[in-house]
Amino acid sequence: MSATAGSPTPRHAVLSAVAGWLPPCVVTNDELALRLDTDDAWIRTRTGIRRRHRAGPGQATSDLAVEAGRRAVDLDGSGAVDAVIVATTTPDRTCPATAPLVASRLGLRGVAAFDVSAVCTGFVYGLASASGLIAAGVARRVLLVGADVYSAIVDPDDRANAVIFGDGAGAVVLRAGEAAEPGAVGYFDLGSDGSHEDLIMVAAGGSRRRVPDAAGGHHFTMRGREVYRHAVTRMARSARSTLDQAGLKPRDVALFVPHQANLRILRSVADELGVPRERCATHVETAGNTGAASIPLALADIASRRDLPARRPVLLTAFGGGLTWGSCLLSWPGPRTPHHPPHQRADTPV
Ligand code: UT7
Repeated sequence: MSATAGSPTPRHAVLSAVAGWLPPCVVTNDELALRLDTDDAWIRTRTGIRRRHRAGPGQATSDLAVEAGRRAVDLDGSGAVDAVIVATTTPDRTCPATAPLVASRLGLRGVAAFDVSAVCTGFVYGLASASGLIAAGVARRVLLVGADVYSAIVDPDDRANAVIFGDGAGAVVLRAGEAAEPGAVGYFDLGSDGSHEDLIMVAAGGSRRRVPDAAGGHHFTMRGREVYRHAVTRMARSARSTLDQAGLKPRDVALFVPHQANLRILRSVADELGVPRERCATHVETAGNTGAASIPLALADIASRRDLPARRPVLLTAFGGGLTWGSCLLSWPGPRTPHHPPHQRADTPV
């Protein structure tokens, strides 16, 4: 990579475009209550979720990722994406990764492509990875997609999880730019604690418990109440640590975008951190918990609904299986942030 003397090649990741895509099939709480021992009131009171989207038969994570990715790449408009990262818990296959297929289907042949596996923290880990590729001069434009098809791994008869999770994809393009530019991706805090791996898992199918396995274990399991407690404390701590690095206070945050796990969790984290609730993104009501897609979907939603001025601090924080957690502070690109709203026709504001 060459640089003109006196003007070093910019190597700071800057947000260039954001897009979301939700599969058209919408599942309401009442529809779930037809097959499960649950009801709309329980789901809304405990989770804030009113509906979620579900991938169609035969629709895999790469299909959703391509939809969101194509929109982000088109909005970016440069035609110069040279790396693709897919953050997902539900790759099309255990092997190979989903990102090379997504890159290829987007016509991005020959580019670097790999998956990030950090469950619901995957998008924030992916942002850090993309920023690192740009900082190292390995890539100049990265497509990062968070995509999950939880309906492929959640037991439809497991009322605790079936009501929470939805399918979707969100994507951003990051380009090499300057740290002072609007859209610059700033400080990070990433962490993990593998001693709690049992709280969120798919037990079978990997090298530990192999398939075919007569004992089952191929469904997603989560010890919800314990995860809830960890989620609130870990996200609040990680978010605070990121603000400390930047020398900012919670009141300086223009927009707080936590992983859309559960409305009660989002509000608890905002309260614990001291960010006013009205500055907290709440996309979970209409899409459920979409795993690695939840933060980019929320960003696409915000870009389509709010006129946030350029350079306002936006704080992302996530938590997921592993356990993993992570936060990122970025400066908002501006009121005309190139975006594609995640909404299908049925997905109007609640
Ligand atoms: O994205 C990765 C991170 N994930 C999260 O952060 C999710 C964290 N956890 C949660 O969101 C919540 O723990 C849940 C929504 C999963 C559950 O809410 P909760 O308020 O923690 O409920 P609970 O697990 O303590 O269960 C309370 C009761 C139980 O009945 P008993 O034992 O008190 O008789 C459950 O069996 O609610 C029952 N229950 C339900 N009832 C009606 C569980 N699911 C349902 C349901 N409908 N869908």
